[in-house]
Amino acid sequence: MTDSKRLILVFGATGQQGGSVAAALLKAGWAVRALVRDPASDKSVALREAGAHIVQGDFGDAASLRAAMQGVHGVFSVQPSSPGGTVSDDDEIRFGIAIADLARECGVAHLVYSSVASVEAGVGLGHFESKARIEAHIRTLPIEATIIRPSSFMEMLVMPGFGLDSGSFNFFMQPDQPVGLLAVADIGKCVAAVFADPARFAGATLELAGDTVTGSELAALFTHAAGHPITYARFPDDVLAANPFLRKLTDMLDRAQVPDANALADLRRINPDMQSMRTWLAGDGRTAFRAALGASGAWAYNQQ
Ligand SMILES: NC(=O)c1ccc[n+]([C@@H]2O[C@H](COP(=O)([O-])OP(=O)(O)OC[C@H]3O[C@@H](n4cnc5c(N)ncnc54)[C@H](OP(=O)(O)O)[C@@H]3O)[C@@H](O)[C@H]2O)c1
Repeated sequence: MTDSKRLILVFGATGQQGGSVAAALLKAGWAVRALVRDPASDKSVALREAGAHIVQGDFGDAASLRAAMQGVHGVFSVQPSSPGGTVSDDDEIRFGIAIADLARECGVAHLVYSSVASVEAGVGLGHFESKARIEAHIRTLPIEATIIRPSSFMEMLVMPGFGLDSGSFNFFMQPDQPVGLLAVADIGKCVAAVFADPARFAGATLELAGDTVTGSELAALFTHAAGHPITYARFPDDVLAANPFLRKLTDMLDRAQVPDANALADLRRINPDMQSMRTWLAGDGRTAFRAALGASGAWAYNQQ
């Protein structure tokens, strides 16, 4: 049950996760305060027009975080990470811990922290180890907290550089190896369900996925959606050998547990709208997928 009189502070609301959370909370009747760096940006203006209350601040400015937390019932915490963003792993840890500490200090009733799926499998990956550190810190605090761990975003698959434009898609898993995937819009719906039922979700850690697909299944789904053949192969060995970051992500996925059918069904009870890869390709992801078919270029994070 939601309470429109109670306020949730959403970080990163101009980004993917925070944007999804702000939209879902507003739709569910919560009041939303969004801390943004630039209140005049197009995304901040759109958030205000959607009904959020905008406050200016920065993860690195504790006074702005403390001011934003006054009078809020809940906080949704997400930080950008290396390697694609402008933050270091130490920054991410510092920001995530500062937000959790301030939430406790300010008497916030429910903190939801967004980590990453299979965080334990991310040994050697800075942006996984950072989240493991933040999770561990939150568990030491006397605050009702829920940790969500989103799987790889379906939106990531249609970024340039994976070969959709050439009809031969490369990604991290083997053709017969399943990976968990999640539509960004479903993060917000899950988080709204978490804030609505603190008795159930306080203290919980939720691995979020809407679907699991193997490389071969992905090829079939892409082929169907494109209307022409798209093949699948894991990144070639020479590419992985030349790129330690891709290699580490691939190794992480080899170690990662994927949710089974029961876990996916449980998540669907939390968020009945949870999208499969098939429904996402036909709906939320349709435009981005069509664009990716004609977009060449390198993956933004394809760095060493
Ligand atoms: N991609 C995946 O498949 C995946 C899966 C699981 C987890 N993750 C994790 O998701 C996280 C990123 O989430 P996202 O994709 O939602 O990020 P995003 O779309 O890049 O958005 C980042 C948000 O953080 C805000 N921000 C950046 N620096 C800030 C600062 N110094 N002070 C205040 N706000 C600041 C940005 O606001 P501005 O408008 O001011 O820039 C923006 O709203 C990363 O930690 C990543 O590891 C990713």
